[in-house]
Amino acid sequence: MARRKIVAGNWKMNMTPSQAVELCATLKDLVKNNKVDVVYCVPAIDIVPVVKAVKGTRVKVGAENFYIEDKGAYTGEISAPMLKDAGVEYVIIGHSERREYFKEDDAFLNKKVKKAFEAGLTPILCCGESLEQREMGVTMDWIRLQIKSDLYGVPAEQVAKMVIAYEPIWAIGTGKTATTEQAEEVCKGIRACIKEMYDAATAKSVRIQYGGSVSASNAAELFAQPDIDGGLVGGASLKADFGKIVNYDK
Ligand code: PGA
Repeated sequence: MARRKIVAGNWKMNMTPSQAVELCATLKDLVKNNKVDVVYCVPAIDIVPVVKAVKGTRVKVGAENFYIEDKGAYTGEISAPMLKDAGVEYVIIGHSERREYFKEDDAFLNKKVKKAFEAGLTPILCCGESLEQREMGVTMDWIRLQIKSDLYGVPAEQVAKMVIAYEPIWAIGTGKTATTEQAEEVCKGIRACIKEMYDAATAKSVRIQYGGSVSASNAAELFAQPDIDGGLVGGASLKADFGKIVNYDK
């Protein structure tokens, strides 16, 4: 069976709860595409109003973060079971902003991936190289290390259902998209890595997104690549353009 495309918005630290509800209303009629799974990954405080706002549509809600314990004395944190109970289905793990600013390392991210599955959430696991690493020619080595560490001990059945997002750090929020060839090359490499770690069926089933300055003008070409199954969209997910990205095939 062919893989379904999945286009996810990563709102980051944007949108107050009332702005979030407004954005859902603006996008409502623009994000209809039967061939594409659409996800809004939103700040924790927006989860409850957004779940309500997208009720009755095909849009799914994702979280941007959680902590690895189920409950307890972790002031300020939110757990995976809390997200699940609130109606969240996806969660972003390993975004370069969390790796960099919040010092989340691969051992911790591995625990997050396992906890997300335990709670019944689908991880959108991010990986990606810096500009320096690309220039040094170690892109694929670096990404393979991230994937192998973050998925350590995660069974094939779970990997087959998850989403991996390839996001070159130098392309995030910079307006500088990877070329279609660069994006496809790495997404294909990630699939090959999954095949090596697991098997051909798992590699065929896992969905791999490209992220980094995805826009209404480059989505069609990127998503047409054989190993790119959609996108993780930051800046452009906060405006009507997101509808054009979801409808990249029209
Ligand atoms: P961008 O962000 O689309 O604004 O580059 C992508 C991301 O960080 O997920």
